[in-house]
Amino acid sequence: ARITLRQLLDHAAEHGYGVPAFNINNMEQGLAIMEAAKACDAPVIIQASRGARSYANDIMLAKMIDALAEIYPQIPVCMHQDHGNNEATCLTAIRHGFTSVMMDGSLEADAKTPASYEYNVAITERVSRMAHWVGASVEGELGVLGSLESGHGEAEDGHGAEGMLSHDQLLTDPDQAVDFVARTKVDALAIACGTSHGAYKFTRKPDGDILAMRVIEEIHHKLPNTHLVMHGSSSVPQELQDVINKFGGEMPQTYGVPVEEIERGIRHGVRKVNIDTDCRMAMTGQFRRIATENPNEFDPRKFLKPAMDAMRDLCRDRFERFGTAGNA
Ligand code: G3H
Ligand code: 13P
Ligand code: NA
Ligand code: ZN
Repeated sequence: ARITLRQLLDHAAEHGYGVPAFNINNMEQGLAIMEAAKACDAPVIIQASRGARSYANDIMLAKMIDALAEIYPQIPVCMHQDHGNNEATCLTAIRHGFTSVMMDGSLEADAKTPASYEYNVAITERVSRMAHWVGASVEGELGVLGSLESGHGEAEDGHGAEGMLSHDQLLTDPDQAVDFVARTKVDALAIACGTSHGAYKFTRKPDGDILAMRVIEEIHHKLPNTHLVMHGSSSVPQELQDVINKFGGEMPQTYGVPVEEIERGIRHGVRKVNIDTDCRMAMTGQFRRIATENPNEFDPRKFLKPAMDAMRDLCRDRFERFGTAGNA
């Protein structure tokens, strides 16, 4: 059954759990998420980026979500637009059956200038008003995540946008967050706490200086009723790096967000946890393994089935660790 982000995260807040939001681009990723959810009785957030929508086609994506909801009638499904950049992206998503949209007005901002803040408030407030008219939920974002918003593509040095702005300039300001939520009436707020998108987040296991979980605690203290969202929350597990590199990959050593840090966030108001990179790595490891172990194989299903299974196991682990399991 369909569910909005607001309905799902209200339940999560009431019961103290978090919900992973996995990105989807194709049928196999959809099936992997739903199989994992079914195995541990978890509600799901499936999200599509603008890139996913142009890769898969809006009609294909919409019917795929219909199919997944029909195949797994017992699992509540929130279909969410990831990083919407304007009103058109958000409204066309809703038109295609998405029950939630992210209006990321922070995408345009490369610094905390008053003008870029006012732009973010204004466009997020407009989308929030329109989405709420038709019963959809809205996520806004305040602060600067790494690579995606630095305009530099994936960070090569593992430091995200830190090269452009000082660490504190990247992080969400708690007082500004209070003002932002009051003015935009978003259902959920994505905050910047030192993470970045992609595999190359940190060059060593992050400690309290790099990953500013205290910012989350402070925002939660000031906004106890706002659902917080962590982007860039892949853990980039060593095992997945090892599988990829064992079978011909050349990923430089890297570190993601430790799951225990996410668990700490969930104790302080984090309700939605965005994960894409880990799923990509789980699948790619299996593509590489099959290609290496069975070089004569050419049936795509022989690659996609193990890839799907690996992503399913990853998703299930996050449902269990975040406390989502058992809440469908
Ligand atoms: O936020 C970024 C997500 O990982 C989606 O990535 O834009 O390559 O589909 P994408
Ligand atoms: P990762 O790249 O860490 O998986 O983050 C995904 C994300 O934040 C999507 O919005
Ligand atoms: Na941002
Ligand atoms: Zn993101």
